[in-house]
Amino acid sequence: PDAAVRDDHGVLHLGGVAATDLAAQFGTPLYVLDEDAVRARARRVREAFESAASRHDGAVRVYYAGKAFLSTEVVRWVTAEGLRVDVASGGELAVALAAGAEPSRLGLHGNNKLLPEIDTAVRVGVGTIILDSLVEIERVAAAAAEAGTVQDVLVRVNSGVHAETHDFLATAHEDQKFGFALTDAAAVVARIREHASLRFVGLHCHIGSQIFGTAGFAESAARLVEVHAELLAGGDVPLLNLGGGFGIAYTTNDDPTPIEALADGIVDAVARECAGRGIPLPELAFEPGRTIVGQAGVTLYSVGTVKPVRVSDDLERRYVSVDGGMSDNARPALYGAHYSARIASRTSPAAPALSRVVGRHCESGDIVVDAEYLPGDVAPGDLLAVPATGAYCYSLASNYNYVPRPPVVAVAGGTARLIVRGETVDDLLARDVGVVRSSPEGS
Ligand code: LLP
Repeated sequence: PDAAVRDDHGVLHLGGVAATDLAAQFGTPLYVLDEDAVRARARRVREAFESAASRHDGAVRVYYAGKAFLSTEVVRWVTAEGLRVDVASGGELAVALAAGAEPSRLGLHGNNKLLPEIDTAVRVGVGTIILDSLVEIERVAAAAAEAGTVQDVLVRVNSGVHAETHDFLATAHEDQKFGFALTDAAAVVARIREHASLRFVGLHCHIGSQIFGTAGFAESAARLVEVHAELLAGGDVPLLNLGGGFGIAYTTNDDPTPIEALADGIVDAVARECAGRGIPLPELAFEPGRTIVGQAGVTLYSVGTVKPVRVSDDLERRYVSVDGGMSDNARPALYGAHYSARIASRTSPAAPALSRVVGRHCESGDIVVDAEYLPGDVAPGDLLAVPATGAYCYSLASNYNYVPRPPVVAVAGGTARLIVRGETVDDLLARDVGVVRSSPEGS
């Protein structure tokens, strides 16, 4: 993890706080978020895109994609670092507003925004709404007319470029739920421009997530600029939003392009296309999520059991069970995602042993780290740290097996502060209207 160091006793420190102290004070499992790491990363990403755009006398806006990890505290950190916030539901919007975020600096996404969500967004003055279907044009237009405002909207399109971690694929046709076909964009925009309560401000495209290279973004941008240029015939198009998706290293096997090089490569590609068509460079927008928070988070677990399993004649694997699992990190089960683990409470001279860190849920796919060499003497009571869990772990957490969701603690400058409290068994029972006896655990 960023800024992880061990003290003289071999205890891992996070943001200057001993992992053992964190576990003693807040319990495990525990999500630990390094405030300085989030802020530094937000700043670095914003500056990377600003500097890339300024080389072409252009402007850029960077939205933090809240779906990666959202809490009021995190909204305040990233907005203080000059980022806007992208929300993808009424719930995410509520968190951003509860944090005190300026509504005009929010963008609202979703392929099926509910009427009350649209209504709220328009009424509070959300800066941009990204439209995803024809019926949504009418819904947002009606809500804005009703509220007596003019709503800025973007149109989400598919560039046909699909980026994967190491590669990208360009196709002519899309078969997925998001956005409009690029070939339909002109007709869609014409419809939007018929509404006095809507102002079309630009195209939006998001090609995927955990992308390591520039090529897919550049190819997508070239396709978008072509349509963007056509749309200029019908009026002003001040913005072009290229989404998020910048990859991070989860383990030492991952080698993403540094954000500065990505930003330069993408912005240069857009500028080149614009120059080639003799049109001005629009203001660019980006929506990074994972790259802001991913590496700033560490999950602490306690080891409960260690079970050697003979896999074959020459292979033994330790199954190291921890007190969390797929309810606090669904990514290995959902995407086959890889993480690493280390003992946080001590160092050990013991020889490394092939280990699989597993959770406590009733599924054999409940894996936290599929393969890791942990010290052979790993034992119940050891604390394990799993780095790079800041993105899409807390936000994808569930109550599977009625396991309460862990608290989130922010660490900075040697102090720890609770930013989201953990759930209790009483929380879990609170919505069940048939409860006849309160939980033995109490609250
Ligand atoms: N903008 C849009 C429109 C998006 O759909 C997403 C992510 C982002 C921005 C931010 O992407 P990022 O920079 O964080 O990669 N649960 C999956 C990732 C889903 C991403 C969904 N959309 C995972 O854990 O890998």
